[in-house]
Amino acid sequence: MFENIVCAVDGSDHALKAAEVASALASKFGSRLTLLTVTKEIKVTPEIRRYLELEHLTGEPQYVLDDMTKRILEAATRAARDAGVSSVKTEVRTGPPARTIVDFARRNGADAIVLGSRGLGDLEGALLGSVSHKVANLAAMTVIAVK
Ligand SMILES: Nc1ncnc2c1ncn2[C@@H]1O[C@H](COP(=O)(O)OP(=O)(O)O)[C@@H](O)[C@H]1O
Ligand SMILES: [Mg+2]
Repeated sequence: MFENIVCAVDGSDHALKAAEVASALASKFGSRLTLLTVTKEIKVTPEIRRYLELEHLTGEPQYVLDDMTKRILEAATRAARDAGVSSVKTEVRTGPPARTIVDFARRNGADAIVLGSRGLGDLEGALLGSVSHKVANLAAMTVIAVK
């Protein structure tokens, strides 16, 4: 049924569950699976750099962020391997998350997007996070929001 699945992960438990669901589907249908994380580009102003130096925080913020991204994708890749998915790759893009996820999926000919219904935000009472909400609205293909 699904030949080409994109799963969006942001490091949240919800997204990891989404990766498990996407992996189970990919394993069952023999789909290609792409694990996608959208990151921010950090702009470090001279003021922020001075503050970091004063606080002896000398690591590059972009490097810390890239390291986090790597860990997020590694955890999701483990879920895919555990489920026996044979075709899995990881991608990182920069931009507004929802739009970037949908554009990536469309350009890569995906027929389903799998994501968590919630993410790292913790708005109590919200049924869907803003990214899952926007993706469901913007995408022309099937969107599965994992609860
Ligand atoms: N930056 C991102 N990159 C990739 N996937 C994301 C990103 N942000 C959110 N997602 C996906 O969207 C799901 C819902 O997150 P979101 O709508 O941001 O909820 P919340 O508002 O609770 O953070 C996440 O579980 C994840 O699958
Ligand atoms: Mg979020």
